[in-house]
Amino acid sequence: MEPGSSTVEGITFTTYKAESDLEPAIKLIDQDLSEPYSIYTYRYFVHQWPELCILAHTESGECAGVIICKLEAHKRRYYEGHFADGPSLNRGYIAMIAVGKPFRKLGIGRSLVRQALDRMKAMGADEVAMEAETTNSAALALYQRLGFVKDKRLYRYYMDGTDAFRLKLWLS
Ligand SMILES: CC(C)(COP(=O)(O)OP(=O)(O)OC[C@H]1O[C@@H](n2cnc3c(N)ncnc32)[C@H](O)[C@@H]1OP(=O)(O)O)[C@@H](O)C(=O)NCCC(=O)NCCS
Repeated sequence: MEPGSSTVEGITFTTYKAESDLEPAIKLIDQDLSEPYSIYTYRYFVHQWPELCILAHTESGECAGVIICKLEAHKRRYYEGHFADGPSLNRGYIAMIAVGKPFRKLGIGRSLVRQALDRMKAMGADEVAMEAETTNSAALALYQRLGFVKDKRLYRYYMDGTDAFRLKLWLS
């Protein structure tokens, strides 16, 4: 992969088109999750924000990675130094990302995040948030290298009792 580039040799990136894209994406995501999502959760994201679901495919058509995000208005609870409702801001949220085990460490994860960030910026995002297990060093390193910073620790956030970090990237 070229430094600073979002392309990965031999990998094609496509935008979610139809339900047939979901099955391989779910397989990838489920293999690493501490708690499985229902099909309705996936549909909630991909039906409302199809452009924020990006898939990576090998030359043979295998799904090697996927990212699923959303972007919506978020009411400010703290504004100009006070706890007060301010104008809402557009918050992007990276809900899920997974790269298949044989395809890791090739730059696919970084490329998926970069492309999703570019799209969210173009759609007017002011900030982007995501959560990762405090023990997920690969994900934390990936996001921190892209400029995300730890915003909060969320105690016992996952079903198995693990804590999470919420990471944020401010765009405006
Ligand atoms: C996290 C994940 C998506 C990274 O995907 P990837 O394609 O392997 O990542 P990349 O090759 O793009 O790596 C980008 C950066 O991430 C970091 N990184 C990736 N894997 C890492 C690892 N195993 N250990 C430490 N840092 C790692 C590095 O900083 C790397 O940059 P560098 O190669 O310049 O050092 C992948 O490991 C994965 O699918 N994990 C299981 C699912 C998961 O944990 N999802 C995140 C939930 S929040």
